[in-house]
Amino acid sequence: MRDVLEVADAFAAEFGAHGRLGVFFAPGRVNLIGDHIDYSGGMVLPMALDRGTLVLARPRADTLLRAASLDRPGVVTADVHNTEFNPEHGWFSYVLGVLHTMGLDSYRLDHGLDIFVAGDLPDGAGLSSSASLELAAGVAFESFGKFGLSHTELALIGQRTENDYIGVSCGIMDQLAVAQGVAGHALLMDCAELAVTPVPFPDRAVSLVIANTNHRRSLTDSAYNERRSDVERAAARFAGESLVSVDLSALAAVGDELDEAALRRARHTITEQARVVAAAAALEAGDLAMLGRLMRQSHESLRDDFDVTGPELDAIVAAAWAQPGVIGARMTGAGFGGCAVVLVTPGAEPDVIAGIERDYLAAIGTPATATVMHGDDGARKIGELVLGAP
Ligand code: GLA
Repeated sequence: MRDVLEVADAFAAEFGAHGRLGVFFAPGRVNLIGDHIDYSGGMVLPMALDRGTLVLARPRADTLLRAASLDRPGVVTADVHNTEFNPEHGWFSYVLGVLHTMGLDSYRLDHGLDIFVAGDLPDGAGLSSSASLELAAGVAFESFGKFGLSHTELALIGQRTENDYIGVSCGIMDQLAVAQGVAGHALLMDCAELAVTPVPFPDRAVSLVIANTNHRRSLTDSAYNERRSDVERAAARFAGESLVSVDLSALAAVGDELDEAALRRARHTITEQARVVAAAAALEAGDLAMLGRLMRQSHESLRDDFDVTGPELDAIVAAAWAQPGVIGARMTGAGFGGCAVVLVTPGAEPDVIAGIERDYLAAIGTPATATVMHGDDGARKIGELVLGAP
């Protein structure tokens, strides 16, 4: 999390040093295992991170919305009565879109806001910087509007914003993990039921290292939507039954009727679901060797059956697998670039980080960045600040 007082100073410089600010934070998330199955109603095992998005907001007497960011120049303006999508809004679309989506359900603010945003998640790195911004905005709007929306409802509003306002057909995993994080825990999440079960993350036995290829990807990439439609073609063969509850022999039985891409995507969906259930049990039982094996199989399935890894993620994960002290490693999130999640035996972090960065540079020729991160709670109001003379 960025330093709140530093962000408050930037807020005061941009919008004036007076009045009472609400301070809100939403984490990013890393997914330990279970990728590309949330939109099939599968089980996933993400964890909220201690990095994310701060939103500072102060009510205005009129209906204007003014927004600025510590990370990007300029001030963006809109009005609570005009929240339509405008491509010129850039990053602010993730904020305004949430207000727009709330408005579709008749949750409306009757006053404007000055909003200042500051994040410490890399963009386009698979750590859900956009869901983090959506949920930080969501808890801020909820706090000012007192709509009585639950965290799950805010997560669904974030997902609808992403689907219908931004135009990315994402599932619910990111928004739900960002909304429902529990410090010290991974979240076993049933994406059909929207049920979240916290699973203790044994900090004394495992350190979390996030290894960024620094190879950016954009989720609006058509590849994500293509993979989804491959899965939907396969799912259509099992009308009435969710693909995650089909078994491999039932898939084999209809194999001849499916094109090759649909067959492989379905195979990943079915095997990944089983791996998540086994991984959550392994985490709970402290069987870290098993967890590591499942993470490896997950990466291989995302590489061979789902085709979403690519040379950078394969290289960083291979680099991680080669380091002594690594329990498990795999790509995390949508893929096509971004980050790998690496579980490490405590004490080995410095050597693992140095080894990954060295081997990745040798393989790809551009630098990677590996960092120790920790879990955190979900999106929340942190407090209030009064600006100006006491
Ligand atoms: C992105 C999407 C999620 C999920 C992952 C892959 O992060 O936003 O809904 O599909 O990719 O697991």
